Amino acid sequence: MGQGLDAIETASRDEIEALQLERLKATVARAYGVPTYRAKCEAAGVHPDDLRDLSDLSRFPFTTKADLRGAYPFGMFAVPRAQVARIHASSGTTGQPTVVGYTKGDVDRWAGLVARSLHAAGTRAGDVVHVAYGYGLFTGGLGAHYGAERLGCTVVPVSGGMTERQVRLIEDFGASTIMVTPSYMLNLLEEYARQGRDPAASPLKVGVFGAEPWTEAMRAEVEGAFGMDAVDIYGLSEVMGPGVAQECVETKDGLHVWEDHFLPEVVDPETGAPLPDGTRGELVFTTLTKEAMPVVRYRTRDLTRLLPGTARTMRRMEKVTGRSDDMIILRGVNVFPTQIEEQVLAVAGLAPHFQIELVREGRMDAMRVLVERAPGASAGVEAPLAGRIKEVVGVSCVVECRDPGGVERSQGKARRVVDLRGG
Ligand code: DLL
Repeated sequence: MGQGLDAIETASRDEIEALQLERLKATVARAYGVPTYRAKCEAAGVHPDDLRDLSDLSRFPFTTKADLRGAYPFGMFAVPRAQVARIHASSGTTGQPTVVGYTKGDVDRWAGLVARSLHAAGTRAGDVVHVAYGYGLFTGGLGAHYGAERLGCTVVPVSGGMTERQVRLIEDFGASTIMVTPSYMLNLLEEYARQGRDPAASPLKVGVFGAEPWTEAMRAEVEGAFGMDAVDIYGLSEVMGPGVAQECVETKDGLHVWEDHFLPEVVDPETGAPLPDGTRGELVFTTLTKEAMPVVRYRTRDLTRLLPGTARTMRRMEKVTGRSDDMIILRGVNVFPTQIEEQVLAVAGLAPHFQIELVREGRMDAMRVLVERAPGASAGVEAPLAGRIKEVVGVSCVVECRDPGGVERSQGKARRVVDLRGG
């Protein structure tokens, strides 16, 4: 389509849904060949033949992270191991890591979707793309890499770390697009200052930020400093990796889910009941074209809502507020780190780095927010923060303001919450 969009990106809803149904039937049949999922279907009394309409999907059982862990390492594969061309895995902070597999065809479609995502972000063939997502078992680096290559870009596979060198390479190689976590982008911003370079004069025009939640306030911060467009990319290894959904640069209004390959649902996180579009809940994905590891109704634990398409006909998901796992419940109030981020960024003189510590005071849980003064800011700049958090987020907290450099820096996905409550 004229501007290099895939035809399906502007197809009618009817066309999209017809394609989804056809692919969904094939996926459910394929997943039924995997013992873990077949057993769940049998227990629920459903069979792939029961799927006649997209709405029938809600009768099928969910797939959870526990299912994937239980099938460690290759039990979720729907093809013989020899047909698996690539393995990725989640870090698995507790217990078994989650292993995912891709056929050659899966790797190829993944590259195509990241290329589509980059195009939506405003990147074009011939651009220099600096990839600072980690390479390795994490899907960020290689996923971004293959997509940028597919689009016809010059790819610089830097991976994470060595912040000083990152800045030098961006400048020397003339990177116009950077793919990185938003929290690590803040480190790069700080490094620009340390090297006495003006970020606004950098060659960067587009930032494709994801792998962790981030806010509109963060967008404004980074766009303002670099004079660039910052857009959101979403994905998860269990479903594919980066490129499941992407924000379009022309609207910056949430992320279009690539619905020809992934069928999104939002469910009540407690009951699992499907919720109508527009209602916030837990995002659930069914893959539509994955060969090696199809997943049916995978519970992401990410909280968002589905909205109608704008720049594309495919539905959007609102920027993810956070994961249900990261939600802090403090004296009955639900708090997400993104809500704290908004308030930290709203206070002039504070650096954009922060961390939340959960501590026990007597028998009560308490929240300590660690922030730091921006270089050159005077003592006491943090004064308004606790009041803002109380007023807007609804919880009392203690703010601890440190000198510049005093808060832990992100090396990839930021560690926003440190639980010191013990037991
Ligand atoms: O983080 C894949 C990825 C890499 C996405 C690079 C985007 C860019 P996992 O390590 O499996 O995969 O972690 C997936 O990270 O369930 C969300 O909780 C979170 N996440 C990913 N993208 C976003 C985003 C990669 N744009 C988990 N906004 C997901 C908010 C995100 N959270």
